[in-house]
Amino acid sequence: MKKILFVTSEAHPLIKTGGLADVSSSLPKALSTLGQDVRLVLPNYGSLKLDNEVHLHSTFSLGSHTVKLLETKLPDSTVPVLLVDCPEYFAMAGNPYVDAFGHSYPNNAERFALFCRVAIEIAMNRVELDWKPDVVHCNDWQTGLVPALLSLEYQCPPTVFTIHNMAYQGLFSGITAAALQLPSQLLSQDGLEFHGMISFIKGGIAYADKITTVSPTYAQEIQTPEFGYGLEGLLIYRNDDLVGIINGIDAEWNPEIDHLIAHTYSSYSLENKVKNKIALQTHLNLPKDENVLVLGLISRLVEQKGIDLLLDCLQELLTLPVQIVILGSGDKGFEHRLQQFAAAYTHKMSLTLGYNESLAHSIEAGVDVFLMPSRFEPCGLNQMYSQRYGTLPIVRKTGGLADTVIDTLPESIVEGTATGFIFNDEHAGALLEAIKRAMLVHNIPQVWQQLQTNAMHGDFSWKNSAEQYLALYESIE
Ligand code: ADP
Ligand code: GLC
Repeated sequence: MKKILFVTSEAHPLIKTGGLADVSSSLPKALSTLGQDVRLVLPNYGSLKLDNEVHLHSTFSLGSHTVKLLETKLPDSTVPVLLVDCPEYFAMAGNPYVDAFGHSYPNNAERFALFCRVAIEIAMNRVELDWKPDVVHCNDWQTGLVPALLSLEYQCPPTVFTIHNMAYQGLFSGITAAALQLPSQLLSQDGLEFHGMISFIKGGIAYADKITTVSPTYAQEIQTPEFGYGLEGLLIYRNDDLVGIINGIDAEWNPEIDHLIAHTYSSYSLENKVKNKIALQTHLNLPKDENVLVLGLISRLVEQKGIDLLLDCLQELLTLPVQIVILGSGDKGFEHRLQQFAAAYTHKMSLTLGYNESLAHSIEAGVDVFLMPSRFEPCGLNQMYSQRYGTLPIVRKTGGLADTVIDTLPESIVEGTATGFIFNDEHAGALLEAIKRAMLVHNIPQVWQQLQTNAMHGDFSWKNSAEQYLALYESIE
């Protein structure tokens, strides 16, 4: 049995801004199911949704801060969660990284450096837990200082650093770096230094024993200038220690047992999926029509997700016999443009700005097609949720989208492998063409149902991926 310390800045359902949260709860749960002793460490944000009992574990000083270590359990599991309580850094309500205007908190470097330092104390068994992990698994830039700082400790456990998104690097000015009082040996060009700044993500990439990212295709892509953001050279240098492991999806995304949808269903009762379509149309005040192709999109509304590709073809798309259901929030410019379309096409388009877990499930169950025109997508979860729900994804051929969707072509129809629609080019015309292709196939119910069945029978469970992580931990003992 391996003792694994899983260091993360979000975990569903305690706190979530994106897929990192989904992975940070389902992967530890899957590892626990495989018999491993896995414990999470997470900041104690003011906005955490805590259902389970929380108790105080210990109190200690770190620099000028008094830190309390609290302990709870991940909901619906036995996985322990250690909460780093430091109110001056984490007590604020709302998003963990940005304020109400979407601006990063000015002290993010100090906040997550403290979080990393506490993780080091736990990893080195200096917090009265009587537990020393065999491996420390860190995720994204917020935890990047952990492998760096741990490398300076005597008899430190090995580290794995998972890149969920290279676009967020935790880059801070030299002045901030000085305030963090990081050991000078970490600040060289081979270390945290990045063009005169310090890069938290580089700490993970340069110092971790193994680096993973969340799909095999993204593992290749980040070794190129287009996706590597200046760190492609280091990633190529560390190529032997870099592996892509595709994410799984949590058991809660299952239309057979989903209590958030109007009618549960399986591939053998697709007529109940149609009932979810009508329920969704009713809920969103769209005309009830079981035959019209309904397109869905649930996303952070940011450039990564190709929202502008959709916006650039929306006018033409809305002249076609389709309905569009969008749920998301993010860039105010995108939100505004979407609002204008939604106001002009109330009978065809529904826009919900904000975060809504329950509506997300109803959309996955109720729409026919899910849109993910991402510019880049390290893994992506919704295209897998969609397939599980018999909702066919339309995706751009990048990252995890390329790895998890099989395009509908004459041969893949015959072979019974097709599960969605893929387009290549990063422009609106290519997206629109893929949507038109889906419309044509939707008009042939027999083929459509076959595609739904193919998609629903795909194995997106966490078991395979958790086993790959376990093998990786074992390789660095
Ligand atoms: P990313 O992490 O880049 O945002 P992923 O596809 O990995 O992309 O994960 C996004 C997760 O966040 C999915 O579980 C998706 O359903 C969820 N999500 C995104 N926006 C919303 C929203 N507005 N309401 C509810 N869930 C959302
Ligand atoms: C990131 C990526 C997304 C991935 C998620 C979980 O937020 O943008 O593609 O699915 O992390 O790994």
